[in-house]
Amino acid sequence: MSTQAGSPLIERMRGFGTTIFAEMSALALSTGSVNLGQGFPDTDGPDALLEGAVQAIRGGANQYPPGRGVPALRSAVAEHQRHWYGIDVDPERGVLVTVGATEAIAACVLALCERGDEVVVLDPAYDSYGATIALAGAVRRSVLLEPPTFALDEDALAAAFSDRTRVVLLNSPHNPTGRVLSTAELEMVARLARRHDAIVVSDEVYEHLVFDAVRHVPIATLPGMAERTLTIGSAGKTFSVTGWKIGWVSGPAALVDAVTTVKQFLTFVNGAPFQLPVAVALGGSDEEFNARADDLGRRRVLLAEGLSSVGFEVLMPQAGYFVLADAAALGGQDSIEFCRRLPHRAGVVAIPVQVFCQDPGPVRSLVRFAFCKQEQVLEEAVRRLGVLASQVD
Ligand SMILES: Cc1ncc(COP(=O)(O)O)c(C=O)c1O
Repeated sequence: MSTQAGSPLIERMRGFGTTIFAEMSALALSTGSVNLGQGFPDTDGPDALLEGAVQAIRGGANQYPPGRGVPALRSAVAEHQRHWYGIDVDPERGVLVTVGATEAIAACVLALCERGDEVVVLDPAYDSYGATIALAGAVRRSVLLEPPTFALDEDALAAAFSDRTRVVLLNSPHNPTGRVLSTAELEMVARLARRHDAIVVSDEVYEHLVFDAVRHVPIATLPGMAERTLTIGSAGKTFSVTGWKIGWVSGPAALVDAVTTVKQFLTFVNGAPFQLPVAVALGGSDEEFNARADDLGRRRVLLAEGLSSVGFEVLMPQAGYFVLADAAALGGQDSIEFCRRLPHRAGVVAIPVQVFCQDPGPVRSLVRFAFCKQEQVLEEAVRRLGVLASQVD
């Protein structure tokens, strides 16, 4: 198709062409590398959950579900928020089921932002944030979480707010740093959101993948925040079924109504046979949730220790799927170049953290490795990475 001038793609999306993920996955295939790039588990979710989906398909849950999601899942999300956090959500108008957390994020930003409105984002940020903000014609205002602690700096945060701030797109537990924001940090965000009358869209997809004694606190539990917060969850992350793309957003009815208006024209509805089994799994025991986190936590330690044994400086995550490692001591001052060469040097694929940042400077030598993989896969990756120790360049 010819266009008046060059690319047919709208201008504001041109910076989002081919992602590093596509490039790295292709490299993984062509070099036979162990792929620790993308964040998806290489084992299936719980048997009962999978069996539930089979039953739902056999039982006829194969047509459009209700617009906001099947009632059982909306009730399960509301009950989950009450049970884990004491948050009161109306299952009728306070919950919307979405195509993964990704659609929830897009529908929230598109529903809430006029052109030129500003969205405060923690940098580095999950890659859909920037693209979604651009799609909405809104403006990204980044606040850097600086290594090695990735703590939120109050002055930097305050500087990102203005009288155009409409949304804070918060992410804790955070991808890619693995930080879980402290209550004091959340209070800084809450204070500024209240002062600027901003809405917080809180992406909490890693809420149950938190390690050691760290506790995840949803910002909606802070004083005065439930009324201005939309909270996002994901069955993909929580139950290791990322391909099902079942997510949800919950919060005050008026905000969820606005998001629903947009969602109905993005995808209308989604995932009928997956919604019921996810509803059942969400009501699982605390022990089941904790056992999944413990299991993942062990794999985090395995990979982190392995990376450190070959010479990376590891920044231990508190949550999530990823460990960040500084490659400077291994000749990786520029992580993009380092990651492009890593499959050839060692047969392992990882992602440069720079690609998640507006200002890559402070994270230039950081590399992200996924540990949501089987132990033998992680062990093989570490074994392969061993060659780096002898070929520092
Ligand atoms: C912070 C964050 N939010 C959202 C998502 C997307 O979740 P889903 O697969 O449910 O769309 C991811 C996936 O990596 C993520 O890391």
